[in-house]
Amino acid sequence: MSSSTQGPQSPKSPEGKEISSAPPAALTPLSAEAQNAAGILPATYWMEQPIPEDDIDDGASSIGSVTSTSVSLSSTIFQYREVHGRTYHAEIGNAEAWEPNDKRHVDAMEILHHAIMLQLEGKLYLSPLDKKKVEKVLDVATGSGLWAIDFADEFPNAEVIGTDVSPIQPSWVPPNVKFELEDCNREWAWPENTFDFVNLRTLIGVVDDWYALFRNAYRVAKPGSYVESYVPGSDILSDNGSVKEDSPYDQWCKVFREGGKKLGRTFAVYQEDLQRKCMEAAGFVDIQFKDIQVPAGVWHPEKGPAEIGLWWKISVEADLEGYINYLWNAVLGWTPDEAKVFARHMKRDMNDPDIHGYFMARVAWGRKPE
Ligand SMILES: C[S@@+](CC[C@H](N)C(=O)[O-])C[C@H]1O[C@@H](n2cnc3c(N)ncnc32)[C@H](O)[C@@H]1O
Repeated sequence: MSSSTQGPQSPKSPEGKEISSAPPAALTPLSAEAQNAAGILPATYWMEQPIPEDDIDDGASSIGSVTSTSVSLSSTIFQYREVHGRTYHAEIGNAEAWEPNDKRHVDAMEILHHAIMLQLEGKLYLSPLDKKKVEKVLDVATGSGLWAIDFADEFPNAEVIGTDVSPIQPSWVPPNVKFELEDCNREWAWPENTFDFVNLRTLIGVVDDWYALFRNAYRVAKPGSYVESYVPGSDILSDNGSVKEDSPYDQWCKVFREGGKKLGRTFAVYQEDLQRKCMEAAGFVDIQFKDIQVPAGVWHPEKGPAEIGLWWKISVEADLEGYINYLWNAVLGWTPDEAKVFARHMKRDMNDPDIHGYFMARVAWGRKPE
């Protein structure tokens, strides 16, 4: 059973267990040997490099600046866990999100929504939806909830449900949107054949088992309806050799790779072709893909890709240390100051027009047979 984040809050998890604040479980860093074997440089390497001069606030000052969880609302779903001054969702099922759920990160998620919309040429979805037939829609791990809100505006006759482990969505929303707490890694509460569209966007590092995710989506989708998934690749590449080994981008990718292994929730969904494999295994038909090259930063000479790269950069810079905080702590055991220094090196490269980094993103959609 899902619990609604609107109206009275339930202090129960989907299994009916009491939810309590607890320290994150996976915070035993890799050994120095394991980090070395994975090609990850020690914090001292970055501390010894000249720190880039800049006047842009990278937000790094917020790392470690909060000494205790500041939210004290009546429900335990608001008893957030804390890592180096950033908050994470309360205990719910087995969930252990690597992204913070505080305002700074939700703001970054809202910018990311705009960045992804640009990548999709202003579209919320690529599936061939029949507007007259879409009555009930599920947005799994909805985050800021902006996709669900925009979709509800575009489909005023549809009921849109966004689920997440954090109750961070706005309460002033169109009347046809609601948000519920649900751990997407558990069996979903919905009966089979419930939804006319299921959206699975940006769930890298969130999903324990991508095959189970698509099986669940298939089960709850009505026959003839579509399920769509967007994932960003987790490798930053360059065609001209400007993303160098041991650069901040290289290290960023390696930490995410090792972090995914450590948490048991891969970030390499694009590289492992998981959308294709899992949709086929679940039984979807008419599976389609669109691959998008996303420039990392503003180096691209053409206006369209440059704008896409700019908005990706703005969304990451909006909370660079929030993206780094959990994994650099969990995987590497770095201190807030060490993470702060790495963030500044990373930001320098994101703003260097001579570094032509990019990553691939993939939209996949498929139909449940009638
Ligand atoms: C990158 S955000 C994606 C937000 C949204 N789908 C979008 O594309 O804008 C990932 C979201 O997954 C949520 N999340 C993490 N683990 C989860 C889980 N086990 N079940 C449901 N949501 C989860 C996080 O709270 C966060 O809001």
